[in-house]
Amino acid sequence: MSDPRISRRGLLAGGAVTAAGALAACAPDQAVPAAAPRPARAVPVPVSGGSAVEPFDGAHQAGIATMPQAYGVFVGLDLLPGTDREALGRMMRLLTDDARRLTQGRPALADTEPELALLPARLTVTFGFGPGLFAAAGLADRRPKTVAPLPAFTIDRLRKEWSGGDLLLQICADDALTLAHALRMVVKDARSFARVRWIQRGFRRAAGTHAAEQTQRNVMGQLDGTVNLSPGTPEFDRAVWVREGPSWLRGGTTLVLRRIRAEMETWDAVDRVAKEFTVGRRLDNGAPLTGRDEHDEADFTKLNAIGFPVISEQAHIRRAHVADPGMRILRRVYNYDEGLTPDGRADSGLLFASYQADIARQFIPVQRRLDEADLLNEWTTPIGSAVFAIPPGCSPGGWIGDTLLT
Ligand code: HEM
Repeated sequence: MSDPRISRRGLLAGGAVTAAGALAACAPDQAVPAAAPRPARAVPVPVSGGSAVEPFDGAHQAGIATMPQAYGVFVGLDLLPGTDREALGRMMRLLTDDARRLTQGRPALADTEPELALLPARLTVTFGFGPGLFAAAGLADRRPKTVAPLPAFTIDRLRKEWSGGDLLLQICADDALTLAHALRMVVKDARSFARVRWIQRGFRRAAGTHAAEQTQRNVMGQLDGTVNLSPGTPEFDRAVWVREGPSWLRGGTTLVLRRIRAEMETWDAVDRVAKEFTVGRRLDNGAPLTGRDEHDEADFTKLNAIGFPVISEQAHIRRAHVADPGMRILRRVYNYDEGLTPDGRADSGLLFASYQADIARQFIPVQRRLDEADLLNEWTTPIGSAVFAIPPGCSPGGWIGDTLLT
């Protein structure tokens, strides 16, 4: 009997070797010599990460402790005039419902392309509230003090089109089509309440490109994320989730999103030794200049033969280092690459997403030290800045923001 998966057309198109194999497969009772080519068959594609699901309901919103997905999009929206507390409640009920369905691989209500929702690919949708939302809701007194524009830093060259925003949507997934669909569905439902102020798209290594626990490289070629908080540890919980301060935010966190342009043309002109000196780590395996392997602890006291610190006083990792892990920031960084100028220069850099319980105690001191002296400043320029409170998660039937808005 012939194999129904092998069509006549396929046989004709498949070339002599394929055809020979297929013919052999058509006649299983004929002896096939040991060295004969294997029958050509449509190899079923193994089920991939497309069906992988990240939980939506829980004490914390997904998308923060979640292992970073390959694609991330951040959307900053401004509330339309008249979007008051009651309207915000309606909006967040609606958007929570969309997010809950889509992240679990179910179409949104009135989904116009429901098939696109069926492979969630670890989709997460995370919501954040910017400073203006508290004023619009008549809840200025419940805004955490540091959910406000950051103090000005000398290195900043901030542009309005990448800064601010009343409401944040952070949507991440391992598949770009899933992400595009979720983005469209959620933004469509937000349209009656808010308008898009900016959209920032980022990417990391595609899922499966290397082992999940391996540190990713950024567009500057560095291993980025070596010293970071690990979800599930007490240090992570202490550093990231709000435990003190406004009760509505407990179990939530705050996000500082900085768009940092990488000056790739001048970075390209620097030699390897200088690049490693700038950061304080090797480019090949990410080891500190005082060590051998990536996760060796940096020795900031070590001196070279002529008495200078091996890791410079102005090296990025020395300036950024925070000794107490419970006071660190969680860096969940995406690369961006927005194409080329007509003369072929890249517009790329980092969407530097930093999560912490307290912006004033954790983020600002590090950013200040970098602002004062960080060799990397020569090749990186902050061009966008936005700050959001990230409300806690919710239980099934609940909605994101209910602790603030009800
Ligand atoms: C385009 C801008 C930036 C680039 C290319 C960059 C790159 C790097 C690299 C390669 C490392 C070493 C590997 C690692 O531990 O992850 C690192 C570490 C670090 N960076 Fe950045 N970074 C940038 C901006 C920032 C900013 C804005 C902050 C915070 C305000 C920051 C905070 C840190 C911290 C806390 C560490 C770990 C330091 C340690 O304890 O060893 N970085 N960064």
